[in-house]
Amino acid sequence: MGAPARSTGPKVDDLQEAFAADVLRGLTASPKRLPPKYFYDAAGSALFERITELPEYYLTRCELSILRERASEIGRLIPTGAALVEFGAGAATKARILLRAAPQLSCYAAVDICGEMIEREAVELRSDFPRLTIVPVTADITASFALPRDAAAAPARVGFFPGSTLGNFEPHEAAGFLRNAARILGMGALLVIGVDLIKPVEVLTAAYNDAAGVTAQFNLNLLKRINRELGGTFNLDGFEHHAFYNRERHRIEMHLASRRRQKVTIDGETIDFRAGETIHTENSYKYSVESLAALARGAGWSPVAAWTDAARYFCIGAFRFAAEGRTG
Ligand code: AVJ
Repeated sequence: MGAPARSTGPKVDDLQEAFAADVLRGLTASPKRLPPKYFYDAAGSALFERITELPEYYLTRCELSILRERASEIGRLIPTGAALVEFGAGAATKARILLRAAPQLSCYAAVDICGEMIEREAVELRSDFPRLTIVPVTADITASFALPRDAAAAPARVGFFPGSTLGNFEPHEAAGFLRNAARILGMGALLVIGVDLIKPVEVLTAAYNDAAGVTAQFNLNLLKRINRELGGTFNLDGFEHHAFYNRERHRIEMHLASRRRQKVTIDGETIDFRAGETIHTENSYKYSVESLAALARGAGWSPVAAWTDAARYFCIGAFRFAAEGRTG
């Protein structure tokens, strides 16, 4: 009759302080930039959920179809009693597929920067999977965080990093993340990662310029959040959503472009914008099956399997962290 495990993670105030510091650093830099992790306040997380249902945004549908088709195959790679650790869990829709396919799991640790969302999901998950220990961890996955006790004590850990969130990282940051994941998850760990694949530019561009304008709202919500949480004076009509594919770097770039010359104050600090000047808000890197494997190998992970959908739009890779010569 154990009480539900307490959530762990940094204090809300620490996250707030980091937000203020990152915003001021990014907007006083040249070119201006903001970290994409701050998209996900409650409103931003809800907008992102809407994005995943847009006709142009194929990523989530493709990944879900691969997961559903390969769930039992993935389930067989998971050891008895293992803990599933999801990085950037959000609504946990994808984790549910694995939790159902791998009843041998003992624990699910959902790590996300949006505490509200995972706390809410945890309540549902506890009633849907009563034999599983569910631990929401409010933390920034790009910083180091401690695994909850139950996940650390399990005989093995399975990292789950779906949604092409890895694509938000610069290549060197992605390598750093994978090395850090190996350290956190430990010897023998499995890591299941979903990435968006390189494909014709029209398909990529449409996914980030939806006709309904939800992606534009998602992008602009970052300014709304700065206004609300940091006392910013952004006029939302003064900025517009720009998204395009950068072919050299295999990435979609999102920006917020200033429609005119204007000033904005945040926390007593004045930021000047030229007409047309942009804030670079997100990179979404696109991989190939081979470039993902090469990145993972470089961080100590041995490829176990790679699955794609019929259109080859999306890839889920499975990797093992094992000592040299013992990669089974
Ligand atoms: C959640 C980072 C994978 O890059 O496609 C969706 C976020 N940005 N539309 C992506 C996003 C604009 C998304 N990731």
